[in-house]
Amino acid sequence: MSSSVSGSKILSFGHYQPSRILTNDDLAQMVDTNDEWIQSRVGIKERRIADGESVADMAALAAEKALAASGLSATDIDLIVVATCSNSDRSPNTACRVAAKLGIGAPAAFDLNTACSGFSYALANADHAIKAGASKNALVIGVEKLSEITDWSDRSTCVIFGDGAGAAVVTAISEGEEPGIGPVVWGSDPSEAIAIEGWRPYIVQEGQKVFRWATTAVPAIALAACQKAGVEPAELGGFVPHQANLRIIEPLARKIGVNPDVLARDIVESGNTSAASIPLALSKMIERGEVKSGASVLLVGFGGGLTYAGQVIRCP
Ligand code: UT7
Repeated sequence: MSSSVSGSKILSFGHYQPSRILTNDDLAQMVDTNDEWIQSRVGIKERRIADGESVADMAALAAEKALAASGLSATDIDLIVVATCSNSDRSPNTACRVAAKLGIGAPAAFDLNTACSGFSYALANADHAIKAGASKNALVIGVEKLSEITDWSDRSTCVIFGDGAGAAVVTAISEGEEPGIGPVVWGSDPSEAIAIEGWRPYIVQEGQKVFRWATTAVPAIALAACQKAGVEPAELGGFVPHQANLRIIEPLARKIGVNPDVLARDIVESGNTSAASIPLALSKMIERGEVKSGASVLLVGFGGGLTYAGQVIRCP
């Protein structure tokens, strides 16, 4: 019988964004909107839109970068978890497609859909699988091609979303080493304030309802994740909430007492990329040297379902 281990840690991050930029001025040519409204209400300047890339292509490109930075090789990976709500095929799942693209032999491979909280759910699943002794080295990916399920004539949604992917390589800790992934706080709220319905597969959301929920419920979730990890918010070297709206995440950082300098603000240049937003934002912060290796970083995902999940990690 395989023995359990006491925890896991993140070895590396990687990300991928399509090269095509869609600015607010571009959107103003398509619907009745303007740069001033979008920047003041949501904080977005531009977003990336996939052209030829599929969900699996973007996931594999982000995973490849994470893998290259991890010191592991593709054949070491025995688990792939992909968080996405925009994969166009029911089967095979994106995780199996990533395995095929990267030449990863026979990993356990599954997708999960908890929309914008997906990456934190996926990370918790990988951590739990490693602790249980079921897996040793995992690829955890958040990826979205929201442009494919966006109604480009609906100004209330089309200005918000973007495409991209972020990935992390997670491994078992050695004996005596501190865990690098803290306990997850996760749950849901039985509301359908954001939906992508089969009969009309476009994102629709009751913006103000979700806004109210995010500003009232998410602070307690963020604080609970810190408390479970035994970390004070003021000590965090990074805070990466789901990139939903600057008007949600800046007050959130203030409310829980996080240094505003360590808050991820990737929404400005990437828009809301749902399950991809957390790993994408953090990977870019690490690349720019904005979060130091060894720092405690709080991740908090929230969105469609409604669902939420958060945990504190140690930055690789
Ligand atoms: O990722 C999952 C989690 N999602 C979230 O956390 C989203 C939470 N919600 C939000 O971030 C905000 O509610 C939105 C950014 C979605 C919308 O901002 P808002 O300040 O709540 O705007 P609103 O929906 O209340 O609309 C205000 C006005 C309306 O016009 P009237 O009725 O006041 O005349 C809208 O028709 O703004 C209008 N409007 C726009 N105007 C210009 C809506 N979209 C646009 C637009 N350009 N793109």
